[in-house]
Amino acid sequence: MKINIAIDGPSAAGKSTIAKELAKKLNYVHLDTGAMYRCTSLKALRSGIALDDENAVCEMLKDTDIRLTPDGEVFLDGENVSKAIRTDENSLAASAVSSLARVRSDLVKRQQEMAKEKGFIMDGRDIGTVVLKDAEVKVFMTASVEARAQRRYDQNLAQGILTSDLETIKKEISERDYNDTHREFSPLRKADDAVEIDTSYMTIPEVCDAVLKLAEPFLQKEE
Ligand code: DC
Repeated sequence: MKINIAIDGPSAAGKSTIAKELAKKLNYVHLDTGAMYRCTSLKALRSGIALDDENAVCEMLKDTDIRLTPDGEVFLDGENVSKAIRTDENSLAASAVSSLARVRSDLVKRQQEMAKEKGFIMDGRDIGTVVLKDAEVKVFMTASVEARAQRRYDQNLAQGILTSDLETIKKEISERDYNDTHREFSPLRKADDAVEIDTSYMTIPEVCDAVLKLAEPFLQKEE
């Protein structure tokens, strides 16, 4: 039997990078739930739907297909939007739609449906507290605003994504932190049974090892 691993934490703390690496190592499936909120906001922006119009965004979602492939590509109604969802403008828009309760319950249902079986590494903000409350391993990944802004900036450059300067990214990350932790529904918080890992001064392999150590006792039982 496989297990589920939940990774929550603020923007750009390295959750997706670590989840991807771990999925490769364990032969598990990585589900980047943030990509689903990003698809929702991208479609709303493109359709001229106000990001705070809950009814309109929910209506739109009824007719929206979001597909995440095992190799990390994101498809919105059949279009590959893997890059388009990562712009700074859409990052803030995703944060805005993620505060809408009915948008959350629609996407949470889809996430729970996708991960009905075990063998998932899911990253987001509410995985350990709402989506996979019974995950065997729960990690709350943090890093300083400075470290996260630098990583996001480097990542944007490396992937050829249109990027703001470092100071602007820092401001945007702080703004998203505030939105994500102060929203009324499922605000970002550490689950009581999650283990916090501050990755500010850790390398990717070090963080992977730290999570694998938490998973080890369960993985041994799997054999
Ligand atoms: O992880 P990310 O930066 O791609 O997430 C984009 C936005 O979606 C972020 O502002 C918070 C929100 N989000 C959420 O509310 N719940 C999740 N499970 C995942 C993301």
